[in-house]
Amino acid sequence: MKVPFFDFKQAPESLRSEWRNAIEKVIASGRYIGGEEVTKFENDWAGYLGLEHAVGVANGLDAIILGLRALDIGPGSRVAVPSHTFIATWLAVEAVGATPVGIDCDDLGLMNLSVLESLDEKIDAVIPVHMHGQMVNMLRLSDWANPKGIKIIEDCAQAHGANIHGRFAGTWGDIGAFSFYPTKNLGALGDSGIVVTSNEDLARKVRSLGNYGSTPTNKYLYDRPGINSRLDPMQAAALGVNLKYLDDWNLNRRRIATRYIETLVQANVKMLVTDPELSVWHHFIVLPENRDNARTDLEEMGIITEIHYPECAEDSYAGISSYSSSEPYSARLLAAKTLSLPLSPWLNNEQIDYVLECVTSPKILRNFQGEI
Ligand SMILES: Cc1ncc(COP(=O)(O)O)c(C=O)c1O
Repeated sequence: MKVPFFDFKQAPESLRSEWRNAIEKVIASGRYIGGEEVTKFENDWAGYLGLEHAVGVANGLDAIILGLRALDIGPGSRVAVPSHTFIATWLAVEAVGATPVGIDCDDLGLMNLSVLESLDEKIDAVIPVHMHGQMVNMLRLSDWANPKGIKIIEDCAQAHGANIHGRFAGTWGDIGAFSFYPTKNLGALGDSGIVVTSNEDLARKVRSLGNYGSTPTNKYLYDRPGINSRLDPMQAAALGVNLKYLDDWNLNRRRIATRYIETLVQANVKMLVTDPELSVWHHFIVLPENRDNARTDLEEMGIITEIHYPECAEDSYAGISSYSSSEPYSARLLAAKTLSLPLSPWLNNEQIDYVLECVTSPKILRNFQGEI
């Protein structure tokens, strides 16, 4: 049996047909930049989150960049970013000319808030990243950052629909930035992203910055130097279809993760897990001592895994910019072991059983021996 890491070909035919109809509608409309589909999806996504404003952009990296720029974070600013994240979080800080300040991770792979709170240096903003579908403790983070006037930009690329204390990811900070990269919990059929906020001025600024810096009333009058980063109407149309299924897909991810956990706990397989109810399970991560062997052996059995991510952000970033690492001990340890098992809302029961059968086989289990 073959179990791909994530396989769009497993998406049901009925869904594909909805995508085709939605895109056909855009073609028929004759409006290929902006327009009704974009506005509708922006409103629907803001409504889903319970926020007033959503501004579609071209991808998740731009969503963070535009969020930072709208908050006037730029040259001279210092921005706390997690060591365990995708490099885009750090690149966004670099792109606006600010300085990233790396914060090591905790046992769940999330920004370690104790480390953040004990920082000696002044910071202007913080980007909590809700990694792998789990949310950072936003109550604690907001209580610490808000009185100091430290801006919060949530990187929600891996946490569509996750919530903590009844509030969704993206609704806690000054700005929430989402990617709709196709394999995300809510994904498009290509690149796209969105910025969300409850602040009308910030929303207006993000919209202007993503549209060459133009004014709302005259597209040839410019308030600020902007870029072109807009949500494509075909992607908006596909996202509108997928949004209807987001909660069901997240439930399915949770059901699969729960099955994984139940079996893998019995086999003493080390995992990066929280309470299954508290995550939307963007990734399901196991922590073998000998990751490379585990990965190759699983591949020989037909199971494709991924590594999120092979280096902590400090180490990746140091290779491309003048950053001196602050010893992200836990994030380095995690980067050396992390291995993501197949997880998609369309994984079928036979595939789930087969993944569990293989991971708990003696050949794979021996790669988990030892302490982490
Ligand atoms: C945590 C995180 N931040 C930012 C991004 C960037 O999103 P995009 O690929 O849409 O630019 C991603 C996705 O790939 C991500 O996982």
